[in-house]
Amino acid sequence: MIRNEKSAALFAEAEAYAPGGVHTSIRSVEPRLVFDRAEGARIWDVDGNEYLDYHAAFGPFILGHVHPIVVQRVEDALWETDLYGVGATTQEIELAKKVVEHVPSIEQVLFTNAGSEATFHALRVARAHTGREKIIKFQGCYHGWHDAVLRNVISAPDMVGQRDLLSAGMMAETADATLVCTFNDADDVADTIAAHPGEIAAIIVEPIPHNIGCVRPQPGFLEALRDLSHAHGIVLIFDEVITGFRHGLGGYQQIAGVTPDITTLGKAIANGFPIAAIGGKREIMQRFNTNPGGDTFFAGTYNGHAVGTAAALATIEIMENQDVHAEIFRLGERMRAGLSDVMAAADIPANVEGFGSVFVTYFMDGPARNFTDLLHNDADFFIRYRQECVKRGVFKLPMNIKRNHISFAHTDADVDRTLQVAEDAIQTLVRQGVRPAPSQAVAVT
Ligand SMILES: Cc1ncc(COP(=O)(O)O)c(C=O)c1O
Repeated sequence: MIRNEKSAALFAEAEAYAPGGVHTSIRSVEPRLVFDRAEGARIWDVDGNEYLDYHAAFGPFILGHVHPIVVQRVEDALWETDLYGVGATTQEIELAKKVVEHVPSIEQVLFTNAGSEATFHALRVARAHTGREKIIKFQGCYHGWHDAVLRNVISAPDMVGQRDLLSAGMMAETADATLVCTFNDADDVADTIAAHPGEIAAIIVEPIPHNIGCVRPQPGFLEALRDLSHAHGIVLIFDEVITGFRHGLGGYQQIAGVTPDITTLGKAIANGFPIAAIGGKREIMQRFNTNPGGDTFFAGTYNGHAVGTAAALATIEIMENQDVHAEIFRLGERMRAGLSDVMAAADIPANVEGFGSVFVTYFMDGPARNFTDLLHNDADFFIRYRQECVKRGVFKLPMNIKRNHISFAHTDADVDRTLQVAEDAIQTLVRQGVRPAPSQAVAVT
């Protein structure tokens, strides 16, 4: 069980100087901890508590924290280079080549600092390319913080599919130009396109919606998006900021065999260092005004900074030369099988979902095909279970329907320990008389 006196005192200080004390809204969870050390699969808070980390800062850490080769590569780069703000750098060229080599849909690429910037540019260039304004996104998918996409992620039951904007201050015209469809429902997408003939510029989708844990695309769904986009002159954008390098060097698109027009990448591309990317068909990418004559504005003071490019090069080279994906997929399989056994043994209704290195236990009966299905998950139990895991030194973010990530630094012994902790956590809750509520029909308007 953890002590948190130092965290509590420091958090009070954090709150004095920053609103809420955190620098990203969804970093505010109970217990409120202050962290100061990370290595491999582990993180430590200021009270010295050690945690096996599956949160992985929302996913970038595919090799593990403070990876010696990646950090060394960044350090070496920084003794020699940083940022010029003019022309190109050798690292940008090398990295662009690697991304183009690996990701099937990418013929040309541009680097940004964050995934939100990449999706912003993806939508803008899709609008430029098609001369249309509306876009389609899916309930449950998150694509960053800008107005076009900041709606209908984790909605309350009565707001599913409705006008669910996530922030004050959003431009109504921008948010309302985004139409919301149901994931895994190609008919819904076809009907939406038919209702707005010649108006849709882009369909943007997480090929696996990991912002709601793990909802896998059903056979044929991504293909249907591809076919509908082709048929109607719509730009298909796969937002692979999470799935990208985590599920394979070629992204989930390579695994699915479906090639979008534009792809956005981030997170695992650089094992925790800040860099993201937008890439796609040459014909569309050439519109950016990095290309003389291009009509779609693209800029950023820190784009292509040596920190991100060096980290990405090191991370990709390790993934090229070692069996990173085979190993984290193997551990993922073991984890999911083990968790299913733990839940079954305790007679807890659970659906252990995941893909590759990602896993999540929804506390519900039935399938997870879209966000509406996940309304059956018992959110209170989900969070209480994870808080019990955190108390026992296994950090799974105690926030409803968030996913867990395995890195190359995790071991079989870590999986064994995690399963033991899961069993203890569940048994403690059961002893306290806390069980998931039976799944009920959820009214969605
Ligand atoms: C699928 C997806 N796209 C885009 C983003 C935005 O990326 P960033 O937080 O780097 O701006 C995220 C962030 O979690 C994401 O999960």
